[in-house]
Amino acid sequence: MRHFIDLYDWSATEIAELLADARQMKGDWAKGIRPLPLGGRILGLIFEKPSLRTRVSFESAMAHLGGQSIFLSNTDGPIGKRESVPDFARTLSQFVDVVVLRVFSQKTVETFAEYGSVPVINGLSDLSHPCQALGDILTLQEVFGDVKGRTLVFVGDCNNVSRSLALICAKVGMKFVLSAPKGYGFDAEFLRSLTVAEPRHQTSEIADPREAVRQADAVYSDVFTSMGQEDETQKRLAAFSQYKVTQGLMSLTPAHAKYMHCLPAHRGEEVDAEVIDGPQSVVFPQAGNRMHGQKAVLKRLLTGGSGTKA
Ligand code: CP
Ligand code: NVA
Repeated sequence: MRHFIDLYDWSATEIAELLADARQMKGDWAKGIRPLPLGGRILGLIFEKPSLRTRVSFESAMAHLGGQSIFLSNTDGPIGKRESVPDFARTLSQFVDVVVLRVFSQKTVETFAEYGSVPVINGLSDLSHPCQALGDILTLQEVFGDVKGRTLVFVGDCNNVSRSLALICAKVGMKFVLSAPKGYGFDAEFLRSLTVAEPRHQTSEIADPREAVRQADAVYSDVFTSMGQEDETQKRLAAFSQYKVTQGLMSLTPAHAKYMHCLPAHRGEEVDAEVIDGPQSVVFPQAGNRMHGQKAVLKRLLTGGSGTKA
């Protein structure tokens, strides 16, 4: 059974097909062409952490495709506490056709997939955020057409979002640059896995953000303190004090460069308001594309084919 837990399990061709199907469905929806391939199907959403985009984009995606959703938050019994993850997975699989999990530990998603009997989608873990990466490449394709050879510069730490972006960039032939202070760059294990999976990846690290953004087609930020790292907030604010994306930093990029953020954003911390609310920003169409990418994932997992050639 296929899952969408990590992009490692999806070939470059399959990623291209998902993106092509997302583009097709987005265009069709706008034209009023609205087939319901997931009629009668139910999505279960299990969230250990807060969410706006992931939750609502998945529920809307499911409704667009004719299916329904059931949302379980931590108040419904934290997964793995009231009953074990294997029991939770084997039980929930009796009721729903596909699940999205947003969890503290990627191990929870993997254990759910091992014991459950329905496709599992990772809606963000400590290690990765593949649905975000898919929607982000869809956004870059809308801006630039073919993204091969383009450069995405992430100004921030090695985290769930930057890991998934580095991996998807390798799969679509983009260059990925991480600009992080010392001690916050990619871990050796991730770089090993990336190189094994995508030997021709073009991932690099440039600590100085002013140097990093000079070749950027898009500059990307995320919060400096991810969910679950709140104890490190002050330490991280100090470590990243030179890593805020300002208008001054954006003025060093090529004129066509766009600004991206996975959201939620902290204006004045990782980005200035004049950048995220300015003319180079694509953050809201980017948020909207979460739904279109995920429609392609749901359709692929539940019906077996995208029906769209890349
Ligand atoms: N970008 C993203 O995943 O947003 P949420 O945390 O609101 O789902
Ligand atoms: N890195 C952030 C992403 C939020 C969508 C976090 O994990 O909190």
